[in-house]
Amino acid sequence: MAKMKPDAHPSKDTETEGNTPQLSDLGEYKDPAGNPTYLIDSAGKVDWYTWRGYKKYMANCMQCHGPDGLGSSFAPNLTDQLTALSYYDFAGIVVSGQQNKWNPSGNSVMPAWGDDPNVMCSMDAIYTYLRARADGVVGRGEPKRIANNKEAQDAEYKCLGF
Ligand code: HEC
Repeated sequence: MAKMKPDAHPSKDTETEGNTPQLSDLGEYKDPAGNPTYLIDSAGKVDWYTWRGYKKYMANCMQCHGPDGLGSSFAPNLTDQLTALSYYDFAGIVVSGQQNKWNPSGNSVMPAWGDDPNVMCSMDAIYTYLRARADGVVGRGEPKRIANNKEAQDAEYKCLGF
């Protein structure tokens, strides 16, 4: 079982340990350290989670972090930041929020999403999309998906209580 250094960047670990994503029951790809990751085919199409992550990012994060994760005047560029954040760091910030790291004004507030199922039910998908953006393998705009994934979509809806 591959181990990850506490603050190692998951993508770098993926490179050193061989980029062989493993399929979970719901068609979610994981790197050898167990972090969610993307799959891209030779035509540039992405797995369902990465595509879904784009949609969920646009619905919940884009108004502050800008289209395609590129940042705004008041929230950081997440395609930069994901090169420095592990999945666990990322999830911790998204669940609990963060304040004033980027601007000590007292007004630099990342909301806590821990009580919002629209974000919590799609944490892996949002991370996977931003990771693909940070690694430079997915461009701007909506990526094309390789295929629909009914099981994963049903699991998301169930999590949301539909
Ligand atoms: C209301 C505006 C707003 C929304 C919506 C928002 N964020 Fe943030 N986010 C911020 C601000 C502002 C910061 C910088 C906080 C600070 O200075 O510590 C931030 C910081 C972050 C960070 C930490 C970056 C770092 O390296 O310190 C992550 C990760 C993040 N946001 C992810 C998300 C995700 C994912 C979503 C959607 C689910 C989201 N944010 C939605 C405003 C927002």
